[in-house]
Amino acid sequence: MEHRDWRKSVVYQIYPKSFNDTTGSGEGDIRGIIEKLDYFKMLGVDYLWLTPVYESPMNDNGYDISDYYEVNPQFGDKKDLKELLEKAHAKDIRIMMDIVINHTSTEHQWFVDSRTSKDSKYRNYYIWKDSADGQPPTNWESKFGGNAWAYDSQTNQYYLRLFDITQADLNWENEDMRRDIYEMINYWIDFGVDGLRFDVINLISKGKFESSNGLGKEFYTDGPKVHEYINELNRNTFGDKDVMTVGEMSSTTIDHCLKYTDPERNELNSVFNFHHLKVDYPGGEKWTLANFDFLELKRILMEWQVAMDEGGGWNAIFWCNHDQPRVVSRFGNDQTEENRVLSGKMLAIALHGLKGTPYIYQGEEIGMTNPGFRRIDQYRDIESLNAYTILRERGMDSHQIMDILASKSRDNSRTPMQWDDSIHGGFTEGEPWIEVPKEYENINVGRALEDKASIFYTYQKLIQLRHELDVLTYGSVEPYMMEDENLFIYTRTYKNEKLTIIANFRDKEVSYPENISVDGEVLLSNYKDKKEMLRPYEALMTYGQEK
Ligand code: GLC
Repeated sequence: MEHRDWRKSVVYQIYPKSFNDTTGSGEGDIRGIIEKLDYFKMLGVDYLWLTPVYESPMNDNGYDISDYYEVNPQFGDKKDLKELLEKAHAKDIRIMMDIVINHTSTEHQWFVDSRTSKDSKYRNYYIWKDSADGQPPTNWESKFGGNAWAYDSQTNQYYLRLFDITQADLNWENEDMRRDIYEMINYWIDFGVDGLRFDVINLISKGKFESSNGLGKEFYTDGPKVHEYINELNRNTFGDKDVMTVGEMSSTTIDHCLKYTDPERNELNSVFNFHHLKVDYPGGEKWTLANFDFLELKRILMEWQVAMDEGGGWNAIFWCNHDQPRVVSRFGNDQTEENRVLSGKMLAIALHGLKGTPYIYQGEEIGMTNPGFRRIDQYRDIESLNAYTILRERGMDSHQIMDILASKSRDNSRTPMQWDDSIHGGFTEGEPWIEVPKEYENINVGRALEDKASIFYTYQKLIQLRHELDVLTYGSVEPYMMEDENLFIYTRTYKNEKLTIIANFRDKEVSYPENISVDGEVLLSNYKDKKEMLRPYEALMTYGQEK
């Protein structure tokens, strides 16, 4: 493979279950990914991140791992994975695996053994506590709803589960457990993977087990030994290898992320944070309907951009993943075809001008939209189903819950990839595990590739620019007009090069800003020409050189 600095790379995220089914099972598989390698080559991405394909009961679609060393037969086998690696490498595409080590499935052998007795060799691989006066050990709340402790009658104790009841948190205080985890990661590095994405890695160090005035997050988020553990993980596994790493950081801070990514500290290359995706959670509440707060979106994105740039950290930059609704439906406009295409491109330009490693989630590059499910039986996601039950218990009307899920559910991004206008969007010849939205007839890869003005080609161009322009990789970031209600504006500067990015987030004409020049060469825009005013959703990236 050609050497490419990971800082200049673009990552494409695949949700294998919904990507491409080659067996007719209704679920995607690894061979389905192999089949599409030319598509990725055409798009130009450098890494493919696969969400977990390990053995799993799939209660949380693979984030509940029951065997770290086996491939889930529903996705294929290790031979398929090996073939994917070889064929991808031959095309200069790298493979990034998802590493889930905050918790395992309760079906993992460690947990099965751990729960049998307090003397089990694996008892301390997990976090077991006595009840506090007949109540769970603390009042912490699970991220998927309910108390974070699950009672187990076999030994009359509770185990911690920050996510589903079938996802038991590992005890990172235990050195044997840590050693087993490092061994497993080294197995996959030796297998040939090129990148590692660490699931909720900033939750591994639990502090004190005390009740909270809130949800309990303060006790385990960026916990007391988290940097020590990540540094140890680095030294024992990928540290001296050509393996790109990214950590998923839940409710984190800039200060911690500067540490996680400081090259001197030997922790991780880069981090995901989610603060910019909570701008439609009024008062921190996800399960409500709300317009997004544009000024807050800019403020958060830019605060992170500038601070990580100045402090020598490194962000992953993204709008979409398998846990987030579709961005055109969320921050753009999917109400008409024209607006979908304009705003889809605008959002791409606004994001891909930023500093960090860009991530594209399957279907984003063709402007896939939220499916608009109306019935609870159309949903599959455990978090959404739990939320439905909890909101019903609180007395909320089911129509209202349906409106909320249609805008917030993780299933919005988990519907099958829309390949063409044949039945089920060309995803499967069987019955898809989750419905394909009817929009596939219009929004699909086949159409996008035929139309030179489609969103796909804007992404292709942005990836090409990322590879070619040093200023996109290394340039410092300067925001402008942060109080403007319509425009998102920033510049990037490196040596004598300067990029200016202007994006109109509104469905109306807006004047050009007065205090910033857009006279440079237009590298990319979502309109054919430039006019006196910025048109609805108009976005441009201009390039200039100082003499
Ligand atoms: C991460 C994953 C999400 C999963 C959770 C628990 O947030 O992205 O899909 O449910 O971790 O593993």
